[in-house]
Amino acid sequence: KIEMSDLFFCHVLLTLLILCEVSKYSDIAHQIINLAVYGKAQNRSDERLAEFTDTIGNRVSGSKNLDLNVHLELVKIPHWVRGEESAVMLLPRNHTLAILGLGSSVGTPPGGIEAEAMVVESFEELKKRASEAKGKIVVYNQPFVSYGETVTYRASGASEAAKVGAVASLHPHTGWQWYQPGVAQIPTACITVEDAQMMARMACRGQRIVVRLTMRDQTLPDVDSYNTLAEITGSEHPEQVVLLSGHLDSWDMGQGAMDDGGGVTISWEALSLIRDLGLRPKRTLRTVLWSAEEPGGVGAAQYFQQHKANISNFNLVMESDLGTFSPLGLQFTGSDEARAIMKEVMKLLATINVTSLEEHGEGTDVNSVHYVFFPGASLHTADQRYFWFHHSDSDTMSVQNPEEMNLCSTVWAVVAYVVTDLDGMLTR
Ligand SMILES: *[C@@H]1O[C@H](CO)[C@@H](O)[C@H](O)[C@H]1NC(C)=O
Ligand SMILES: *[C@@H]1O[C@H](CO)[C@@H](O)[C@H](O)[C@H]1NC(C)=O
Ligand SMILES: *[C@@H]1O[C@H](CO)[C@@H](O)[C@H](O)[C@H]1NC(C)=O
Ligand SMILES: *[C@@H]1O[C@H](CO)[C@@H](O)[C@H](O)[C@H]1NC(C)=O
Ligand SMILES: [Zn+2]
Repeated sequence: KIEMSDLFFCHVLLTLLILCEVSKYSDIAHQIINLAVYGKAQNRSDERLAEFTDTIGNRVSGSKNLDLNVHLELVKIPHWVRGEESAVMLLPRNHTLAILGLGSSVGTPPGGIEAEAMVVESFEELKKRASEAKGKIVVYNQPFVSYGETVTYRASGASEAAKVGAVASLHPHTGWQWYQPGVAQIPTACITVEDAQMMARMACRGQRIVVRLTMRDQTLPDVDSYNTLAEITGSEHPEQVVLLSGHLDSWDMGQGAMDDGGGVTISWEALSLIRDLGLRPKRTLRTVLWSAEEPGGVGAAQYFQQHKANISNFNLVMESDLGTFSPLGLQFTGSDEARAIMKEVMKLLATINVTSLEEHGEGTDVNSVHYVFFPGASLHTADQRYFWFHHSDSDTMSVQNPEEMNLCSTVWAVVAYVVTDLDGMLTR
């Protein structure tokens, strides 16, 4: 008869065995570090990313042959097209506003919309002043707190404004937005932070602000696209997989080098490093370059749906989507036992000073599945400057630094290889 305490004991023993096992990888970790940081692969990820983004630019629609076992998997993605867009402030003075329609926005009538602007700092203020909003263009001037908190203004600001009768909304932040079901769909665009703050000052002085907004944006039927997959097939448990990922699509400004060219390139580079060293892990190491992350993790959601039957074989899912600046550590979501193992794995990176294992693995593409099905990890880098460039024309190769990318690729490759090769799967 097996007692609960026996099972517990077995579990602890297994965990201890795995911890011992991790330290055996220090040789391989050093080979990867030497190759990527100091050796022949130095700056390769940066060079690949530069060639890729300089040649293709944003809105990537093809993929390079990675010279590995590469294939494409079909997904359906939204097809929104930016049309001619313009906005002018007519009162209290004439001033052209630089605008950028938010993804999925409807257009205005051909002559545009001319209306008084109502500036608010928060959804709370919008609700309090709801009776003033009818027929107005709501201008959000919310302070930036954090991406997670502030992005909700971009994501649902149009619907919140429509609920109180506004005819359009303007925001100091660009990217995709989502209309809420059953709420009138009003045009919505990004303006500059400078203009949002200026209009807030004008409103504060009691000056009447009038804006004319013209947008020809439209949504066409969904189109076919592909998640791009490359893998090194496992030698002992090919059906069990570790996923390394970033998203291949980008916003339509700049080159999409930072968001998420960097994440894509280090996920590709990690496979190359492991292959260059002639290593073949016991499980399958699969790099997935997601399609259509920007409209809300569309390609990833379909991937996990398509692979639902084999979901119990996913051992760890990793995503890099917050820049590939100087790496600080790995963010991880998973069981305590899995965390203990990941802590040991990070010790293998001591010589490049990246040993910290933090809480909360994240990434739009994998958020929905981490917590439910399997452990997840994301790369944490010195990303203080991320939102200077995010979704703007300045998201170009000039943001990237080859030495930082060498380090990011190394972290990605070492963690991915070791977890893919350990005797046991990470516990759920
Ligand atoms: C890698 O990039 C760094 C920084 O730009 C440079 O100093 C170094 O010479 C480069 N190495 C190679 C092999 O190109
Ligand atoms: C603003 O420009 C319009 C034409 O677009 C013009 O009719 C109007 O007089 C101008 N207003 C001011 C205050 O300059
Ligand atoms: C699930 O795994 C089985 C066995 O490894 C494989 O034959 C099948 O193609 C997989 N299905 C998907 C959707 O990945
Ligand atoms: C790690 O830190 C040590 C001590 O500060 C430093 O000498 C070394 O250059 C660092 N290594 C890397 C790859 O940053
Ligand atoms: Zn991104």
